[in-house]
Amino acid sequence: MNGIEIVKVMLNDIDQLQRIGKQTFYETFSSGNSEENMKGYLDNGFSTDKLKIELSDKRSEFYFAVLDDNVIGYLKVNSGQSQTEIKDDNALEIERIYVLKEFQGKKVGQLLYEKAMEVSKQKGVDYVWLGVWEENPGAIRFYKKNGFVEFDKHIFKLGDDEQTDIMMKLQIK
Ligand SMILES: CC(C)(COP(=O)(O)OP(=O)(O)OC[C@H]1O[C@@H](n2cnc3c(N)ncnc32)[C@H](O)[C@@H]1OP(=O)(O)O)[C@@H](O)C(=O)NCCC(=O)NCCS
Repeated sequence: MNGIEIVKVMLNDIDQLQRIGKQTFYETFSSGNSEENMKGYLDNGFSTDKLKIELSDKRSEFYFAVLDDNVIGYLKVNSGQSQTEIKDDNALEIERIYVLKEFQGKKVGQLLYEKAMEVSKQKGVDYVWLGVWEENPGAIRFYKKNGFVEFDKHIFKLGDDEQTDIMMKLQIK
């Protein structure tokens, strides 16, 4: 798809970030999870306070994919102590790549992924890693296609439900 721009998200973009964050999370996970667990995660995980802290963190970066002034996807990467796990200074975490359902399969995810790789090169890290829900085969295939390999499994809690995340990494040095 032509005309997509990848732009860095600033603090005053917080409302748009909250909207795209909630919508893409809901579209991705609502069918496999209870309404109650979903609501809890959407309210807490994307609260204005939480997003404000994340946007002010120098070791986290958010990017929007923008088409005709509309945000259609976003990326979040973390380095240093802001990584959710591992916290290796020589690593970058892709915490989130999400594209609106309507725009999936049109290379928007690939553009966001390439931005993450650009950040990893700027930072000079040795490897990029991420955690992906084991019941999200589309995303797992997307990362495998980009060269990621599985190296571990971790438990993640969505409300009262324990779920397994597959940890994947791509060595770049
Ligand atoms: C996973 C996701 C980010 C991929 O973005 P996308 O814009 O749909 O993917 P792209 O069009 O850029 O695809 C890039 C490549 O990955 C492959 N791919 C993407 N999604 C795939 C899927 N569901 N199944 C198989 N392959 C897939 C494509 O075939 C494409 O390969 P190609 O270049 O040979 O055609 C997007 O589908 C998404 O937001 N999914 C829901 C949210 C999610 O699960 N995010 C990851 C959480 S960890």
